[in-house]
Amino acid sequence: MSEKLHAVGSAPAIKAEKLNKVYPNGTAALTDVNLSIGRDEFVVVIGSSGAGKSTFLRCLNRLVRPTSGSLELFGEDISCVCGGRLRRVRRKVGMIFQQFHLVRRLTVIENVLVGRLRFNASPARHVPSLFGVFPRQEREFAFECLRQVGIADLAFHRADQLSGGQQQRVAIARALAQEPEVFLADEPIASLDPHSAEMVMQNLMRIHEERRIPVLVNLHHIDFAQRFGKRAIGISKGRVVFDDRIEALSDEAISHVYGDRIREAYGETADSELSACA
Ligand SMILES: Nc1ncnc2c1ncn2[C@@H]1O[C@H](COP(=O)(O)OP(=O)(O)OP(=O)(O)O)[C@@H](O)[C@H]1O
Ligand SMILES: [Mg+2]
Repeated sequence: MSEKLHAVGSAPAIKAEKLNKVYPNGTAALTDVNLSIGRDEFVVVIGSSGAGKSTFLRCLNRLVRPTSGSLELFGEDISCVCGGRLRRVRRKVGMIFQQFHLVRRLTVIENVLVGRLRFNASPARHVPSLFGVFPRQEREFAFECLRQVGIADLAFHRADQLSGGQQQRVAIARALAQEPEVFLADEPIASLDPHSAEMVMQNLMRIHEERRIPVLVNLHHIDFAQRFGKRAIGISKGRVVFDDRIEALSDEAISHVYGDRIREAYGETADSELSACA
C-alpha cells in the first residue's frame, strides 16, 4: 500500500556522511558521524546519557535538522527536505519513544488508526470516535497490527487504562500501521519492568524478521543490547566510537563507549547522581 521513497537501486537503508548537529545553544550533539546501515540490519545504538543517541534517531525522521553533512534514507538525501517531501520521509519512518506518546483518552484501536492518518492534521481532537470513520479494511488492518504485538484483545480499552508495557506495544502497533520502511525505537524499554521490556524487544525483533525492515534501537543498557542486537553502534560525546558486530562488544569496548560513566551501561546510578539525591 505504501508509496516507495525514491529508492536508489540497492542503496543502504541509512547512510550518514560527516553528519553534524549543533543545537542553537551551541551544544555539539553529533560530530562527523559516518555510518551505513543495510536494509536487513537490526542495530542497537548505545552510549551514556547525553551521548547523542536520540539526536541521531531524530535526524532520521527529521524531528531534528542536521547542521551539516549528508543523511540518506534509501538513497534519498533527507537532510534538507521540507514540506511534502518531509512528510513523505516521515511516513516511511516508524518511531517509538520511551514515553509512548499515545492519545490517552482514545481506545487502543483508535490510537493505531491514528497511525493510518499519515501525518495529516490530527482529527483526534474533533471526532468523538475515530473507529467508525475508517473503512472496514482500515480497521481490519489496525487489528492485524495489534495482533502482531499480541494485544488485539485490548483493542477497545482506553489507552490510559493499560500498563506501561501494553502501552508501548500499542505504540509499536501504531507505528506498524504506518507501514514504515524503517523502524526506530528511542529507549523503548527504559521505563518498563523486565518482563514488559522482554516482550517489547521480542516484538521489535519479530517486526524486523517478518517485515524485513531495518530496525534501530537506542538502548542504555548493555544486557538487552547484547541479547537482541546484531550490530552495535557506540556513541560517545557525539562521535561514533564503536561500530561492529555485537559479538565484538567486549568489556574493553564497552568501557571505551561509556568512559567514566560505565555504570550507566549496567543500569546503575552514578555515585554523583546518588549523592545529588541524598
Ligand atoms: N533541543 C536541544 N537543545 C539543546 N541541546 C540539546 C537538545 N537536545 C539534546 N541536546 C543536547 O545534545 C546532547 C545529546 O543529547 P541526546 O538527547 O541526543 O543524548 P542521548 O544519548 O539520547 O541521551 P539520553 O541517554 O539521556 O537520552 C546532550 O548534551 C543534550 O543536552
Ligand atoms: Mg535519548
